Amino acid sequence: MKIGIVRELVPEERRVAAVPETVAKMVKMGMDVIVESGAGLRSHIDDNDYIQMGAHIEATHQSALSKADIILKVHRPILDDTVGEHEIDYMKDNSILIGPLYPTRYPDMIEKLIAKKITAFSLDLLPRIARAQSMDILSSMSNLAGYKSVILAADYLGKIFPMMTTAAGTILPAKVIVIGAGVAGLQAIATARRLGGVVIAFDTRPIVAEQVKSLGADFVSLETTHDSQDTGGYAKEQSAEFYKNEQEIIRKYSKEADVIITTALIPGKRAPILITEQMVQEMKQGSVIVDLAIEQDGNCILSEPGKIVTKHEITIIGILNIPSTMPVNASQLYAKNLFAFLNYIAPQLNPEQLDMSDEIIKECLVTYHGEVVHPMVKQKG
Ligand code: NAI
Repeated sequence: MKIGIVRELVPEERRVAAVPETVAKMVKMGMDVIVESGAGLRSHIDDNDYIQMGAHIEATHQSALSKADIILKVHRPILDDTVGEHEIDYMKDNSILIGPLYPTRYPDMIEKLIAKKITAFSLDLLPRIARAQSMDILSSMSNLAGYKSVILAADYLGKIFPMMTTAAGTILPAKVIVIGAGVAGLQAIATARRLGGVVIAFDTRPIVAEQVKSLGADFVSLETTHDSQDTGGYAKEQSAEFYKNEQEIIRKYSKEADVIITTALIPGKRAPILITEQMVQEMKQGSVIVDLAIEQDGNCILSEPGKIVTKHEITIIGILNIPSTMPVNASQLYAKNLFAFLNYIAPQLNPEQLDMSDEIIKECLVTYHGEVVHPMVKQKG
């Protein structure tokens, strides 16, 4: 089978879906690997690096997509503005697509996949279970984003993080608040602690308290009136009253904070507003908010997607797609996740006979044999 790796069309995207190491593994599995010329350049990987591992280089985007039996992507397929054709139009009938597709948001994409009888796996739907950890693109990207959020905050803060005793006096450590102690939040806590910050974390899931404390941060528990966590381990949406109450609790701490990093998400919903304009106004001048929930409209009411803004003397960072700012490591981890998934499903691909009772396949498979098979996507359609 031929695996296709292409340059991502999204202009600011620097990641690529395969690195030389994973190309070598695919070749070892007996796959042919086709790479669009220049696909890895923005991750500092050139065509020769892929060739050395046994890949074939295709000159154009269209030719790489049209020759592949299996396409690995960083982004969902989109319209190629330069020629007015959709990436799916280039793809072979009955081919296989693997990547984060966010299928409930893009019904037009689903129609195109069905028309071409493409078997599409959406890795944003991967179950968060132990045996799927090596394939978990959300975790690996959140981890990097959590790290970078602290580096960004440190850069924009007019202060240093660690306590420092000098002949000229003592500098107190920066006070950092992390809201949401999932994968990104825990990495942000660890990074802020390594830089010497004093950290307080909030989460609606009390189960994370031990992890937060083991990283040397304090945990503020938020009492929920009903279950805080669903069966998949994700946070459940709470009532408007709960969020108002939560804002009041955070407000007591935010007045003193130098940095707030927000990561609170509810799957499939707008991120809850946890930082109001009044709270921003009350923060110390020069403090920094990094809103990692901005991909789902943000936890701070004043965040602007894709922008760094200053409001009420507070810097609010709403940069989108933070993993792409670290393309070397992001591509490396992402490519390994994709390879782990490919390796997992490979025995079922030739001849194509998917085990629909397998939790990993069942949760990720969106379209199959010209039909929508995922219940959530069916419901939306
Ligand atoms: P996420 O990105 O959906 O949410 C981030 C964090 O925000 C979560 O900890 C959530 O509880 C918290 N949050 C939501 N609403 C909040 C609010 N109002 N106030 C404060 N915090 C709020 O979560 P993520 O990081 O993707 O992890 C989801 C779950 O999956 C976690 O339980 C994690 O441990 C689990 N997981 C399991 C894996 C595995 O076993 N393979 C791999 C990765 C994650």
